[in-house]
Formats: sequence, C-alpha cells, structure tokens
Amino acid sequence: MELFDAIRTRRSVRVYQDKPVSRETLKKILSAAQMAPSWKNTQTAGFIVVESPEMKEKLMEALPSYNARTVSTAPVTVVMTAKKGRAGYERDGSYTTNKGDRWEMFDGGIACQTLCLAAWGEGLGSCIMGIYDEEKLPALLEVPEDQYVTAVVSIGYPAESPNAPKRKALEEKVRYV
Ligand SMILES: Cc1cc2nc3c(=O)[nH]c(=O)nc-3n(C[C@H](O)[C@H](O)[C@H](O)COP(=O)(O)O)c2cc1C
Repeated sequence: MELFDAIRTRRSVRVYQDKPVSRETLKKILSAAQMAPSWKNTQTAGFIVVESPEMKEKLMEALPSYNARTVSTAPVTVVMTAKKGRAGYERDGSYTTNKGDRWEMFDGGIACQTLCLAAWGEGLGSCIMGIYDEEKLPALLEVPEDQYVTAVVSIGYPAESPNAPKRKALEEKVRYV
C-alpha cells in the first residue's frame, strides 16, 4: 500500500475476523514500530504482546466494557510501555526541556502510530486505547517499576469498515508565516 493511502485510509477498527495473525506478520509490524524515531534514539517504547486466550481474558478485566468488547474479537493485543527517566532527560537526571518527562509519551505515540500504520499496510486493523485500569493492567503484565503502560492496541483482520470520523478543516490548524 502506498504510504499516503495508508495514512489516509487507516481507521480505528473495533471488530475483528476470527483469523489469527502470524508470528511473522506480527514481527514485521513490531520491527517497523521499532524503527520509529525517539528522543536521542533512547527507544524507550516497549511492546507486550498478548496472544494467549487466558491472558486476553484477564486483560479484558482491566478494561472498561467498551474497550473489553474491542479486545474480545482481536487475535492480538499489544500493550505499549515506556521506560521512565530517559526520554527528555540529561545524563545527570535533570530535564532537558520545560516539557519534563512528557517526551516519553511523545515517543510512545510515534511508535504506536508507526505500529498501527505498519499493521494497516499488512491488511490489519487496529485500535489504540488509552483508557484502562492503571493499577490492574501493569500488575497483571508484571510491568517493571521503571516502566509504565502508555496504551493498549488491539490488532486483527477487520470485520468492519468504519467511516472516517470528520477531521477539522486544515485552515483551522495550519498557519503559514
Ligand atoms: C491516545 C488515544 C487514545 C484512544 N483511546 C481510545 C479508547 O480508549 N477506546 C477507543 O475505542 N478508541 C480510542 N481511541 C481511538 C480514537 O477514538 C480514534 O482514533 C479517533 O476517533 C479517530 O478515528 P480513526 O482512528 O478511525 O481515524 C484513542 C486514540 C488515541 C490516539
């Protein structure tokens, strides 16, 4: 798929076909996400791949019902993490900019969108979910203390073709000087 077409046609998909995603395809899209740019190449984004039915059931208990529904049909869910204390920091532990540690989430977002676009390029739909139980989920997945969960991303072959939610007019958002 041509890059601009992939960017334009990618949608949040919340219902999936009962069809597995091969390990090879999964590795391909994860390695694309791994190529995302990051603060001083710190690469703080991590990926926990939930594919066993048992773990998926438990994961769903850490989600609100509308997100649990999305995960219920997804053959794979990637829980994204960020490593603390690197992106946005100097070697002495001080912040480099006034944005403090927010660069961790910035880098996580880039990696996340790269993952979703790479998935779409392989015919896979995805849905980024930012709403989950922030205590239950890291405990369930044994996320180390120096990391935290940034987002939950369901992935699978789409069983729906959602229309694009309306975007704001470009003129509202862009200023040429
Ligand atoms: C940071 C972030 C958090 C989101 N959280 C959720 C969520 O918890 N549940 C959900 O169904 N969709 C969630 N979405 C998906 C958005 O609703 C969706 O991207 C937006 O409506 C635009 O639709 P599109 O992705 O089809 O272009 C989230 C998206 C982003 C980027």
